[in-house]
Amino acid sequence: MSERIISAEWHTEDAPMDSLRPRFLEDYIGQDDVKHNLRVFIQAAKERQEALDHVLLYGPPGLGKTSLSMIIANELGVQIRVTSGPAIERPGDLAAILTNLQPGDVLFIDEVHRLSRAVEEVLYPAMEDFSLDILIGKGPSARSIRLDLPPFTLVGATTRAGLLSAPLRDRFGVIAHLDYYRPEQLTQIVQRTADILRVPIDADAALEIARRSRGTPRIANRLLKRVRDFAQVGQSELIDLETTRYALEKLRVDELGLDELDFKVLTTVIRQFGGGPVGLDTLAAAVSEDAVTIEDVYEPYLIQMGLLQRTPRGRVATEWAYRHLKLPMPTARAENRSSNEWGTPVTQPLLDTDAPR
Ligand SMILES: Nc1ncnc2c1ncn2[C@@H]1O[C@H](COP(=O)(O)OP(=O)(O)O)[C@@H](O)[C@H]1O
Ligand SMILES: [Mg+2]
Repeated sequence: MSERIISAEWHTEDAPMDSLRPRFLEDYIGQDDVKHNLRVFIQAAKERQEALDHVLLYGPPGLGKTSLSMIIANELGVQIRVTSGPAIERPGDLAAILTNLQPGDVLFIDEVHRLSRAVEEVLYPAMEDFSLDILIGKGPSARSIRLDLPPFTLVGATTRAGLLSAPLRDRFGVIAHLDYYRPEQLTQIVQRTADILRVPIDADAALEIARRSRGTPRIANRLLKRVRDFAQVGQSELIDLETTRYALEKLRVDELGLDELDFKVLTTVIRQFGGGPVGLDTLAAAVSEDAVTIEDVYEPYLIQMGLLQRTPRGRVATEWAYRHLKLPMPTARAENRSSNEWGTPVTQPLLDTDAPR
């Protein structure tokens, strides 16, 4: 798959954005409940001079999990060691990391659902009792010895909490779910980033970027940078609404943050399958994408926006999808919709954007 400008996945061009990461809780915009609780737990742990309990952060990509893990370390005033599930190949790799931690340190494991079973087994006693069981020697003379570890805080991040094994999930004392951001919060994030980048931006332009960013700070920052390019080349000192709309049109990101691939999915459901229900595999074949990509990358936002529904019989385009694509709704379905066959009420979109024009 080519890199979509509105994908929430990390792109290589995002690397310089690390300077945009908020460093302390007070710079971290939104997610108020999570922030509030973490502030209490961090303060309590500091007062007791103990390591903070292990924290699991879960939510879609680009919502600020990695940033939050670094903030936790900064607020605690400790070092952070960063790794990821797939990077820890053998139990020995994990043992090496754990034995090198200082008391109170944060160990951040991204994509924690991708740890191998063998590595997880080593992690359990480390999380629970700060101890490590290692096997010395081979064959009949092999013996296991137990090493004490410094107390530490594991911060795990995952986009798919459902894939985490139950014993691992149970060992996290704090479980925090990050949600898509509202346009007001994304507007603040865009404004904050514009300040850091030293590009003045009008309030309505910041809101426009926010509305088209799929509830995701990473996308908001990326769109802002591309809009800035258009403003700069167009010789404007300030990013205004007109430049922003022009740039986003050129980038082919619509008012809801949908790009051509989203359109392809929705029009296919409507045009080829009469609005659905259509099975995931059939839909994937019709748009020439693989089913996992559709399920993980396209669908969550379309569902979140109330454009698509996932039903036991397959994917269904909602009334809102017909309106957004300006396609006529079949009369039978239009009449049916209050007691629709899909079981759930027709959802209104999350982002408070204007009605489709
Ligand atoms: N709450 C927030 N406030 C300000 N900026 C944020 C916030 N959350 C995320 N960001 C920005 O979005 C980018 C992506 O966040 P990141 O922590 O890498 O997300 P994740 O790890 O969940 O994929 C960061 O570089 C940061 O600049
Ligand atoms: Mg991350």
